[in-house]
Amino acid sequence: MALINRRTFLTGSAALLGAASLRYRGWAQENGTSSSSQPMLLGVDYYPDQTPEALWEEDARMMAEVGFTNVRIAEFAWALMEPSEGKFEFDWLHRAVDILHKHQIAVILGTPSAAPPPWLTVRYPDIVEVNSQGQRLYPGGRRFTCPTNPTYRRLSLAIATEMARTFAQTQGVIGWQIDNELTLGSSPRCYCDYCKSGFQAWLRSKYQSLEKLNQTWGTVFWSQTYTDFSQIPVTLPSGADPNPGLALDYDRYQSYANASFLEEQLTVLRKLCPGHFVTTNNVGLPLDTIDLRSLYEKLDFVSFDNYPGFFEMLIHQESKSRAIAPETIPTAVALGHDFARSIKVRKPFLIMEEQVGKAGQSSFSPQPEKGKIRLWVYQAIAHGAMGVNYFRWDTATFGAEEYWHGMLNHDRAKSPAFDEIKQTVKELKALGQDLLNSQCIARTALFFDYDCSWALKIQPGHYDLNYGEQVTAWYGAISASRTGIDIVGPGDDLSDYQVVFAPVVYVLSEAQAERIKRYVSNGGVFVTNFRLGAKTETSQMVRSPLPGPLREVMGVTVEDYVPIYSGTQSVKFSSLLSGPDGECGIWADILLPSTAEVFGTYASGQYAGRAAVTMNSYGKGKAVYIGADLNGASLARVVQAFSAVAKVQKPLDVPAGVELTVRKTTAKEWIFVLNHTADTQTISISKAFTDLVTGESLTAKVKLSPYGVRVLQAS
Ligand code: GAL
Repeated sequence: MALINRRTFLTGSAALLGAASLRYRGWAQENGTSSSSQPMLLGVDYYPDQTPEALWEEDARMMAEVGFTNVRIAEFAWALMEPSEGKFEFDWLHRAVDILHKHQIAVILGTPSAAPPPWLTVRYPDIVEVNSQGQRLYPGGRRFTCPTNPTYRRLSLAIATEMARTFAQTQGVIGWQIDNELTLGSSPRCYCDYCKSGFQAWLRSKYQSLEKLNQTWGTVFWSQTYTDFSQIPVTLPSGADPNPGLALDYDRYQSYANASFLEEQLTVLRKLCPGHFVTTNNVGLPLDTIDLRSLYEKLDFVSFDNYPGFFEMLIHQESKSRAIAPETIPTAVALGHDFARSIKVRKPFLIMEEQVGKAGQSSFSPQPEKGKIRLWVYQAIAHGAMGVNYFRWDTATFGAEEYWHGMLNHDRAKSPAFDEIKQTVKELKALGQDLLNSQCIARTALFFDYDCSWALKIQPGHYDLNYGEQVTAWYGAISASRTGIDIVGPGDDLSDYQVVFAPVVYVLSEAQAERIKRYVSNGGVFVTNFRLGAKTETSQMVRSPLPGPLREVMGVTVEDYVPIYSGTQSVKFSSLLSGPDGECGIWADILLPSTAEVFGTYASGQYAGRAAVTMNSYGKGKAVYIGADLNGASLARVVQAFSAVAKVQKPLDVPAGVELTVRKTTAKEWIFVLNHTADTQTISISKAFTDLVTGESLTAKVKLSPYGVRVLQAS
């Protein structure tokens, strides 16, 4: 199941180029932001439920020897914790927690709602979700449930409540993971009758009156006027495409349904376990099924799962190519980390699952080369992680993930990465809490908006136009500048950024347009592209010439918008963009400047000589419109040129394949340099640094071994 959606996730990504010092209590609400109260979380995902009890003690002892501070357990153990309805058995889990605690290993408990047991699905078959084709899924895998279904909610809440009551005071338990990867099911949205009624109730509360709803969606079209909320359908196949306003609202409703499902468990955990932290794990962009900004709003921190080597297998599976550019995977992973950090606005996040070996359900991903797992962990820390849990301790000898390698092999021998992981844990502890709780400060932002993503899937305009791919490609182009990127959304404060990149802002609210206007007027550089402001937030087409409310700021009018299917179009650049012509891919907005200056023009056909790229001075800032869907190389060049206009500076020059990030506190700064290549790399430095990992003093030239890492601090 996860495979299918990891592939979806990848489709976008591939478009790119001492001891634990644990504090068990007092984490959550009262102290959530104070770094001094945060436990160090360098742990492993563990399955006592799948391991003979005779081995638990040995496992705990070995984990302590590695230096692990914690485990995450029980997130798939519903059948053992509630073997029949209302009959709870937690003794085994207590015994596991006690043994771990005896070895100074703290516990994050997972609530088990991602995989309900057979007694439940047989008795209540309607908890199983209905997919977008109207087919009901079958139990037997996981993540097959409807987020609205009242029985599923009731029983999920019951087991979470019993767990919370049972473990609220248990020594060693420090926090909770609710459910598991709500974003990652084989069919991401449910279309069952419960969801239909839930949607109708949600609409009633959103619109208050049917008159308003009918007007907002334009239901007079195709005679869809609703005279009762109960008539409103979900977007199941219906002979032709659905109303776009209804379809966008349905995606919003499904996102809300998942967030409110999670919130029910959160409320109970807050009440019964006030000293514990609460989070949930996910994978991020470009997977977009749930608005993670709202999902994480009331949680203590973001947790993400990271499987870079698994991506390699999927990219190969899709392309059958052995030539994956060295930057492709690290860049896709970096986007995930930057998003994880940005969801709660620069707050350190946790890697809840980190790949430790060959990964895969029915095929193995490649064995990570020596140094790569350490590098992946440092990459996460470099982008703002505060800790990591390796997935998983041992390797299952049964079940759907027998091929997913842990730190112990099937025969319980140490895996090839075991010692590397031990070394990394030791290093990270030595680097200390200050670093793990410091912030990544970026002056460049990339805009990601769920409404744009959902609305563009409903009506891509060109079947190849995909928001996730655009955002990922822009991230790749921008990240080459090595200046640090925050991922911002509508409503986020833009004033800290020297430049904001915003691809395909297809849906634009008046409020967001105002925010952008203010940002540029106050001196910001705003760089955007085609389809800007084509739709209102209700998913109607705007009634004014494009780019609608931003016409004055951009200093252009879109004369025509041109999806491209045949023939070629290219763009000639001038002035600060001078260089090789760019190829235009699937889209061309033809621009008519009013006050903007032209930096690129179309080269052929009826639009030859017409403006393709413009920059407008507005107030104290600049607004850049890239009308053409530029190919990778020219997009990178153009984006770099406008970063330079915004005067964003990188701390050091690094060669291709080497990543650079900075974390800071008011007192200290850490520069991470990460070599993602299999070759030794050299960087030049103009002042003296200490490598905090090795203790070396460095001047003039710094060597990075293959897949090597340095954490530099000015000496
Ligand atoms: C994650 C999931 C884990 C495990 C892992 C390996 O997506 O949260 O439960 O399935 O992948 O497949």
